This record gives sequence, structure tokens and C-alpha cells, in this order.
Amino acid sequence: MEYIGIIIKYLKNKEKLGCTMNIVERINKLKREKNAIILAHNYQPEGIQRVADFIGDSLELCLIAKDTDADIIVFCGVDFMAETAKILNKDKKVLIPEIKNTECPMAHQLPPEIILEGKRKYKNSKVVIYVNTLSLAKALADATCTSANASEVVNSFKEEEILFGPDRNLGYYVEKRSNKKIILIPEDGHCYVHKKFTVEDIINAKRKYPNAEVLIHPECDPKVQDMADYVFSTGGMVKHVLNSPKDEFIIGTEVDMITRLRIDLEKIGKSKKLIPLREDAICEPMKEITLEKLEKCLLEEKYEITLDEEVINKAKKPIEYMLSLSK
Ligand code: 13P
Ligand code: SF4
Repeated sequence: MEYIGIIIKYLKNKEKLGCTMNIVERINKLKREKNAIILAHNYQPEGIQRVADFIGDSLELCLIAKDTDADIIVFCGVDFMAETAKILNKDKKVLIPEIKNTECPMAHQLPPEIILEGKRKYKNSKVVIYVNTLSLAKALADATCTSANASEVVNSFKEEEILFGPDRNLGYYVEKRSNKKIILIPEDGHCYVHKKFTVEDIINAKRKYPNAEVLIHPECDPKVQDMADYVFSTGGMVKHVLNSPKDEFIIGTEVDMITRLRIDLEKIGKSKKLIPLREDAICEPMKEITLEKLEKCLLEEKYEITLDEEVINKAKKPIEYMLSLSK
């Protein structure tokens, strides 16, 4: 009898400490206790997407980060995304569950010197840079853009020449949709994941799935974009797949985009055939975030994003300019 009493006490204590909860329940408990919000990019692994408060593309996550009243923002994504959330919320704690290997290689392809050199050379141009850049680069720009609003941002300026970087493929996409001269800084910036997609991949996929629509991200090579039925940001892909009467799609972007699409289709009780254009289109920095690291991040409140106040103030303007066009 005494033994049973000890067991009951042990179990109660365990429950009090949260030991009988599974990891998702523990994350949700910590999130409530700390008034934290979890934002996850569309390329995050499934476990993270399912526990997140919001899943979205770069622009959607910026808009949520700007308006949240949470005390802590946990950003499940790559470095530049968490930095952007910090720039928009300098007085809030912005955390990323992993600090090592979560750098987006493209975001490091546009150092401030290249922007300064471009500004010196093209005095009458405006500088529009992809949000996939670090804060020091953003601080030198007139506007940032994402793949969801790049043409809109570029077209909002009256200047004819636009210094644009670092993604040469997004530059191609924008130039096709504006009457501006796009000057690439640097000339060959690109994403190593989207570079994998080839014209042959599309020919083979179309042969195999003749009824499927081909959706391509603007970070893909121009020739690949030109063969697409639609070129969309990841958020654009979600809207299109959910609203389209079609039920077969070839997805030309990172593989976990399909996870995001499946989650949303599940919510509305629908199922559509989603074919990855390439199974090996994996963004490794995005996969550094795991449920275990997310729990630790909430528990220990690290890794915190810290940025210089002056840089924050300067980098905020071009982001706010972009967001003002997205209202
Ligand atoms: P989206 O803004 O379309 O989600 O793109 C972000 C990104 O990094 C794509 O590689
Ligand atoms: Fe960066 Fe490419 Fe990964 Fe997007 S997919 S976060 S651009 S490395």
C-alpha cells in the first residue's frame, strides 16, 4: 500500500514537471507560459510546421512579426529571416533554435562593399535588395523585396535603373515584369538549392505527369522559369494550389513546400497530387531546426538575435517601405 502511494506521488510529480507530456505538448506549454510565438518558413521540416503558430513565406512572416504582441518571437527558418524579425521588433526577444549552420548562403553573397560600389557607379539608381540579405546590406538599401512582391517594389520607384541583388534569377523575373533596367549586384548571386532545377527536369516531369501544372520559384534559372505554367513565391504556390480547380501539380522549389501544401489541404479536407520537381532540392540550413532544439530554445531562451541599434534603425526603413506596399 505504501509502495502504491509512493508510485502515485511520483507520477503526480512527474506530471507537474511536464515529464509525461510529449515534446509537442511541452513546446506548447512553454510557449503559453512565456507568451511566445513560433513562426516557421514553408521549408521547415514537418514537425516544426505542425507546432508553429504561423507558417509562411518571407513576406507573410515579416508581416506577422511586425504585428505580433507576443513577448518572444521564435523564428524557425534561416539567419536573415530571424534578423528581419529582430529589425522589426528591436525591443522584443527574437530567438532562433539553432545558430550554427542556419545561414542562407545567398544572403551572404551581397556584402555591403558591393552595394557601396554599385551606388558609386550608378548614381541615379535606386537600390532594391532581396530580403535574403544580412542586416548590414539592408541598411544600405532603398527598399527590400521578397519573391512575392519584387516587381511591385521595383515598379514603385520612378528611377529607370535599379540596382538589384543578390539573386540574379529574381532579377531576371523582375526585369521581365517591369520597364526598368535591372543592374545585378553581384552579377551571379543565386541559391544553391534552386540552381539544381534544369530544363530536363521539367521535360521529364511533364512527360510523366502530362496533366500536372508546373509551379516554379523565381530563384530558379531563367530557362526553367520560362518553361513553368506559373512562377510563384512559396506563398503564391499555397494560394494557387488551394484555389485551383486542378488537382495535380509539379512543385519546383524546396521539398518541404509539399509538406506545407499537404498541411493546408488536410485542413480543408482536400487531397491533391503534389510532385516534387526534384527530390534532392533540400535546403540544409532549414533542416537544422528540430523539435528538440525548439524546446531547448524556449526553455533556455537562446539563441537570441542581437543587432547593433544603428544598423536596426537603418535597416528598418527599407523593410518598412516594402511592407507599406503590401498593406
Ligand atoms: P519565399 O519568400 O518565396 O518563401 O522564398 C524564400 C526563400 O528563401 C526561397 O528560397
Ligand atoms: Fe537560402 Fe536557397 Fe535555402 Fe532559400 S532555399 S533559404 S535562398 S539557401
